[in-house]
Amino acid sequence: MKLIKTSALLALLSVAAINAQLLKSPDGKFEMNFQLKNGVPYYHLNYKGKTVIEDSKLGLRLLKDNTIAFDNVNKLPDGKNLNSDFEKIAENRDSKNENWAPVLGEKKYYTNHYNELSVTLNQPNEDRKIIVKFRLFNDGLGFRYEFPQQKNLNYFVVKEEDTEFNFPYDLKSWWVPADYDTQEYKPTTSLVSQISTKWESSFDSNASQTLVKNAVQSPLMLKKEVSGKEKPLYINLAEAAVINYPASQLEVDSENFDFKTHLTPDAQGAKGYMQTPAVTPWRTVIVSEKAEEVLDSKMIFNLNEPTKYTDTSWIHPVKYIGVWWQMFVPNRGTWNYTNIDNVHLGVTDYSKTKPNGTHAANNDNVKKYIDFASKHGFDAVLVEGWNEGWEDWFGKSKEFVFDFITPYPDFDIKMLNDYAHSKNVKLIMHHETSASATNYERWLDPAFKLMKEHGYDAVKTGYVGNIIPRGEHHYSQWMINHYQRVVDKAAEYKIMVNSHESVRPSGLSRTYPNWIAAEAARGTEFEAMGGNNPDHTTILPFTRFMGGPMDYTPGIFQTQYNYYDANSKNFANTTLAKQLGLYVVMYSPLQMACDLPENYERHLDAFQFIKDVAVDWDDTKILSAEPGDYIHTARKAKGSENWFVGGVTDENARDFTVDFSFLEKGKKYEATIYEDGKNADYVKNPQAYHIYKKVVTNGSKIKVHLARSGGYAISLKPIK
Ligand code: NOJ
Ligand code: CA
Repeated sequence: MKLIKTSALLALLSVAAINAQLLKSPDGKFEMNFQLKNGVPYYHLNYKGKTVIEDSKLGLRLLKDNTIAFDNVNKLPDGKNLNSDFEKIAENRDSKNENWAPVLGEKKYYTNHYNELSVTLNQPNEDRKIIVKFRLFNDGLGFRYEFPQQKNLNYFVVKEEDTEFNFPYDLKSWWVPADYDTQEYKPTTSLVSQISTKWESSFDSNASQTLVKNAVQSPLMLKKEVSGKEKPLYINLAEAAVINYPASQLEVDSENFDFKTHLTPDAQGAKGYMQTPAVTPWRTVIVSEKAEEVLDSKMIFNLNEPTKYTDTSWIHPVKYIGVWWQMFVPNRGTWNYTNIDNVHLGVTDYSKTKPNGTHAANNDNVKKYIDFASKHGFDAVLVEGWNEGWEDWFGKSKEFVFDFITPYPDFDIKMLNDYAHSKNVKLIMHHETSASATNYERWLDPAFKLMKEHGYDAVKTGYVGNIIPRGEHHYSQWMINHYQRVVDKAAEYKIMVNSHESVRPSGLSRTYPNWIAAEAARGTEFEAMGGNNPDHTTILPFTRFMGGPMDYTPGIFQTQYNYYDANSKNFANTTLAKQLGLYVVMYSPLQMACDLPENYERHLDAFQFIKDVAVDWDDTKILSAEPGDYIHTARKAKGSENWFVGGVTDENARDFTVDFSFLEKGKKYEATIYEDGKNADYVKNPQAYHIYKKVVTNGSKIKVHLARSGGYAISLKPIK
């Protein structure tokens, strides 16, 4: 292991090379250098005069013909790939400084301010051109490959994209192992130099998993730790606008602190069927001396296209409860209606089967949830397990697993929707596809029609298990296009989509604002399936959330499961107050209160925060944050003068002083503080909390104590 690579020095020297194109960020703090070295394209990124990314290669390798992947013989010789033998033939510059308003978001306006450099490269021997487009913002770099339509480049198949991110020094990193099918892993924290040795112990099992050795997933959070007066650097690697192209993993070279893209292959091993004109997703590098500024960055959304929807009035924030968590805790219900272990859709006559007596999506139970939602002002109730087929829902490679239109006998779809609407509540549809995407596509129209008929305007989709078409992966090009088809079709019906086990978002909610949220990481459900580490929710905002809202489904009040089963020793790794903090720390315009109504009934004072908290915002201030340790966030509700503050900590108890200087001058606010009780502890005393009120102004400060894996929440209402 080298401390400083010699190539870093050479790279510095090469910056001055005559052939280099220099691009500066609007504030001048970043410098990106592009150059060709013997026909091979490289880029180099400096921040405040120091190297962040040393000379790193750009380019793609292609397959020999346009249809068959598989065999090793199918390799193109040097010069036939899109990674060498280039000459620079043109250079174009552009810049932009604009504010745009997200349909739903963390702030009223996002600022899109960048300088752009497009370098046109030609391979004279092949007579083929590509463009590398760089955008340098005040918070980092985005770049992508563009393939203009031309005589010698109409169709091609990508064998691999070899974009490098080479760091000159070791970095602390927060990562999950690369996998073509799931992100549902606990993050590992280690130096980049330790990733290869820690990789083997970085995962547990999943219903669908295809791990990639010595590679990690993005968004990847990195930190250059420093001593003395030098400032640390926080670096985030991700991708933006993954459209008609596979999602990428990052191969790690632990010895040299280098990363390289590794695309998700399709069933044949190919990594992208392209027809020009075409572009790749943007590769993104966010850099700041402050962790808070990484969370504040909107670069990934800026690199996505504005929405083309002319009418977005049907897209709205959703706070919901659901017939859901009771299927995860012991003894409280099942998705399936019978215990038959082999059902045939359209053949099995459920009216003649013996119900198992545990089916949770039954009329009476759903009505209770609707009553509770209505009483407490929730927008919607999700109901899972409403439709036929759950008896053999995943793990059987069954293509026709659900039809998405036939309810179980004890779920009266018309009655329940009428009942809900009469109480000003909507039901949220659930489409578990069991990863049988072909089947789902066949049923999309009838399924969405049924939804519209009954007044549903949001669907939660799910992709548990191995993908059908068999051999495809959750993140391969075919599936990327599948998620897209679902969102497009949903838009035709004015339906919002919340996708689980789908590809991690890459900022596409800007372009397709009805893709309101996704899970696509280890969510709250894992608190009932092996647990989430206390630092989990202090890392997710730096990783998974960078590309868009996550349906994390917070809100567990009954954290110890011996409440349901006297013999259970399992518990969620959180205090009750920390669950409240998550509503502010984790941005999602679709936000669940996941626990059972009976558990909220016992803590109505604490539940009040969940009732009050907004889910769509005019402003956001990250007060203080450190990945893996803590996050404190303040947000101003959309169209309101109310503010909300939330904080969460890892396995360490902490004290924090909330400085209210973000409040409007001259105004008084009534603050309600929900914090961990004096002896609260996520293992021994998770439900101890303390609520009090105080009048504050923008000159006030309040001390809060966060227990181990604890947190707090504060609501602020102006006093008239
Ligand atoms: C996994 C999803 O993440 C979870 O929310 C859902 O309840 C189950 N699949 C069943 O669809
Ligand atoms: Ca899941």
